[in-house]
Amino acid sequence: MSEEFSSLKINSRIKHLILKDYLPAWEAILGRYHGRMLYFDCYAGPGSYRWRGKEIEGSPVIAIQTAGEWLKKNPRKEMRLVFIEEVANQKCKLEKAISEFKDNPKNLYIEVISGKAEDVVSKLLADVKNLAPAFFFLDPYGHPLEMYLIREILKRQKTEVLINFMYYQINRDIGNSLVEDKVTKLFGTTAWKDQPFVNLSGSQREQGILDYYIQQLGVQYYIPFKIRFGLDEKVAASRTKYYLIHATNHFRGFDKMLEAMWKHGSEGSLDCGDGQMVLFPEKTVDSLKDFLRGKYCGQEIAFDKMRKENWRLYYREKEFRESLQVLKKENKVEFVPVTSKTERGCKGKDRIRFVGD
Ligand SMILES: C[S@@+](CC[C@H](N)C(=O)[O-])C[C@H]1O[C@@H](n2cnc3c(N)ncnc32)[C@H](O)[C@@H]1O
Repeated sequence: MSEEFSSLKINSRIKHLILKDYLPAWEAILGRYHGRMLYFDCYAGPGSYRWRGKEIEGSPVIAIQTAGEWLKKNPRKEMRLVFIEEVANQKCKLEKAISEFKDNPKNLYIEVISGKAEDVVSKLLADVKNLAPAFFFLDPYGHPLEMYLIREILKRQKTEVLINFMYYQINRDIGNSLVEDKVTKLFGTTAWKDQPFVNLSGSQREQGILDYYIQQLGVQYYIPFKIRFGLDEKVAASRTKYYLIHATNHFRGFDKMLEAMWKHGSEGSLDCGDGQMVLFPEKTVDSLKDFLRGKYCGQEIAFDKMRKENWRLYYREKEFRESLQVLKKENKVEFVPVTSKTERGCKGKDRIRFVGD
């Protein structure tokens, strides 16, 4: 293996695995109704890494592979991948990695831009009023794009972001008066200085910082996926390294990302944002079942509506369905088919009638 590949830490690999699972789902959802889609990797990196003695793909290469596969099956659609990289030698490596893809479909357009993500994105948003549906991946070493830019991105129709929120670094910067301006740009306001988290420590501080950042995004659905330090790093493995924050105004995107993050839940964990940390494997069907019965006793509600009302529980469709099937066996709910053909079904507009006490 040549020296030209940077080596990858275990917890950086997780974001690649999540992207690999999510991007095909994102393409399928949006590609159904839109002819053109955009993918921006704003801190693209070199495109290839060394991982356990092998060369493996970085995020731009994952985007090329998944887009290529999807476009081959959908020849009338179009996808543009934009990779932004500031550092010249990283950009060179990226171009080399991209050049290995010789038979890309004709409807796949790849552009590598040399420059700072903040400059490229602010120009793009100023120049283009109606952006095609787009996914922005923000994966910097330190602070992500300034808050006002992320808010602008999220205001566009059918556009979402996946942010690598480098908690470890950001937490340190919050306590460092020399980088106050940088922190103000991160949160989009000077009001962060008066937030309680500034004087807190430990997990309360961590939760306060995360909640405040997410609140500033002003987005409808979000998932903060916590990634701790890996055993291959010098910091204690119990400490948070970063959060992978998915932010979208669309439930279906949220739902598909939730599936991808659950799948890798043993490497990371999901923070509910209310101080209660929940590891995916510990999210039991039993606790969801009790919760739903308590909340909806004596009421009737459509399955999809119930899922949307309870998105902050971060349970997948599968756990909702399993909980309701158990309640049905216990004669505590009845299903009224609307989307399903039989009374055994439990999806979409099917109505769930909770028996009263
Ligand atoms: C964490 S790496 C990206 C890894 C990549 N997303 C992946 O998963 O394969 C961050 C990259 O952003 C680049 N970078 C740093 N500051 C930047 C900026 N302001 N604009 C664009 N790229 C930047 C760095 O040179 C580095 O290659």
